[in-house]
Amino acid sequence: MAIEDKIQQLLNKREEARLGGGLKRIDSQHSKGKLTARERIELLLDEGSFEEFDMFVTHRSHDFGMEKQQYLSDAVVTGHGTIDGRVVYVFSQDFTVFGGSLSETFSQKICKVMDQAMKVGAPIIGINDSGGARIQEGVRSLAGYAEIFQRNIMASGVIPQISAIFGPCAGGAVYSPALTDFILMSKDTSYMFVTGPKVAKTVTGEDITTEDLGGAEVHARKSGVTHFVAENEEEGILLLRKLLSYLPQNNLEDPPQTECADPIDRLEDYLNEIIPENPNKPYDVKDVICGIVDDGEFLEVQRSYAQNICVGFAKFDGMPVGIVANQPNFLAGVLDIDASRKAARFVRFCDAFNVPIVTLVDVPGFLPGSAQEYGGIIIHGAKLMFAYGEATVPKITITLRKSYGGAHDVMSSKQLRGDINYAWPSAEIAVMGPAGAIEILAGKEIAGISDEEEKQKLILQKEQEYRDKFANPYEAAKYGYIDDVIEPRNTRFRVIRALRTLATKKDVNPPKKHSNIPL
Ligand code: HXC
Repeated sequence: MAIEDKIQQLLNKREEARLGGGLKRIDSQHSKGKLTARERIELLLDEGSFEEFDMFVTHRSHDFGMEKQQYLSDAVVTGHGTIDGRVVYVFSQDFTVFGGSLSETFSQKICKVMDQAMKVGAPIIGINDSGGARIQEGVRSLAGYAEIFQRNIMASGVIPQISAIFGPCAGGAVYSPALTDFILMSKDTSYMFVTGPKVAKTVTGEDITTEDLGGAEVHARKSGVTHFVAENEEEGILLLRKLLSYLPQNNLEDPPQTECADPIDRLEDYLNEIIPENPNKPYDVKDVICGIVDDGEFLEVQRSYAQNICVGFAKFDGMPVGIVANQPNFLAGVLDIDASRKAARFVRFCDAFNVPIVTLVDVPGFLPGSAQEYGGIIIHGAKLMFAYGEATVPKITITLRKSYGGAHDVMSSKQLRGDINYAWPSAEIAVMGPAGAIEILAGKEIAGISDEEEKQKLILQKEQEYRDKFANPYEAAKYGYIDDVIEPRNTRFRVIRALRTLATKKDVNPPKKHSNIPL
């Protein structure tokens, strides 16, 4: 064959591979509001940066007449490219070929990019759209999944791993995304579950739709499985690019610093007024976050789940940070099981990838009651404490208002190696709130008063005495548990100065195989 024919052969093969399962199936994919595997990669990566691997790989199955159905690339597109000029590895499952189902060679293709991402020290993004294990390949497909799971586990805490779910993701297939750092789902076109509605009906008798069992909304609100929900794939892909802008390439690098036009000493007068006079009145902590971070930009993680705590990424003077903030606007910002788990995982992510943590505290305590106790709030609350306590990244804490009881200790307190702990003048740092404290300290005295008006007067008087003595920042500051009481409107500047100071911070944990976080 002449060289020009050989080149033509190569071009033809490339063309064939790019067609995946054929035009009809591509049309069917589009008609569902979904992009193809390659279109997703094109959108995700910087223009022209995609370098594809293993385009000519085909499956090796001979059962069920499979040898007659060969598709170049075998249902997954893999390779690397750049996002904002930084290298990332990608795989994108191709639903137009055998429903994106996973074969032995499909798994090998993914493992190859995962292995190289680890060697290079670059993030990996997986786009999932698959009918699960390729039924014709039996246990080889299961083994293929397990090869990926093992690599997910080894890569955890070494390179950022991000999963986008843009179609079905069912059965054991859900566990690869679950092992990664972040999951993003597209509304209406994606779902995740261990067993589908039919199995649920057979085993438990429950009648439930695919959407209600494993759609994006339920995983955003109820299970907390997904960290982000996008209206459509295009929006989701932009979100993935945005997320990466806060993350380092790997655990040995710092997050990328960018130029910042927002003045570092910008004063926000409204912050001086944001805490209501009445300590029981809520306010939105996101107004505080947006007032202090660069350009008011906050990428919230798990926005709809456990809204009593708010976590996400932002920048201060171009430096990426993770923000953890109690949300008084939702359940008074109380710490419960879901909030503790949510924040603990986020804190651990930040610590693993050298992202400093800024914590805004306004927490009345842990949520009381049998539902929480039976659900194991003791263990789940301990997760958050553990996460903060083992974290060695710079930790800056600002107590805005309440910081009571065990929750005070948990929320990045000085004793959990908080590096710089500020408080606003409105801070109330004490063992418990005034009402609870008076009930315990003066309950008998109050119960002895028969006149109701007198009783109420005494309660108010005792509460005020307690508030004056304990519910302020100065008791804690007296002991050095608070480094300084700061004016709210100047918070941005104080945080930036703290971050700059702590940029060279070194802290170590004792050598060990690994810790035993209360899972
Ligand atoms: C082989 C598959 C397949 C699979 C789909 N296809 N799933 N081929 N193995 N697992 C093929 C179909 O035969 C069809 O081929 C094409 O993909 C598109 O599938 P449709 O059914 O036409 O599409 P749709 O109606 O959109 O339904 C999508 C679907 C459904 C919901 C994903 O295909 C489905 O239920 N598939 C089986 C899912 C499943 O049970 N997987 C195993 C789960 S167990 P043609 O040629 O017609 O285009 C598992 C264990 C993992 O995954 C364990 C890890 C530890």
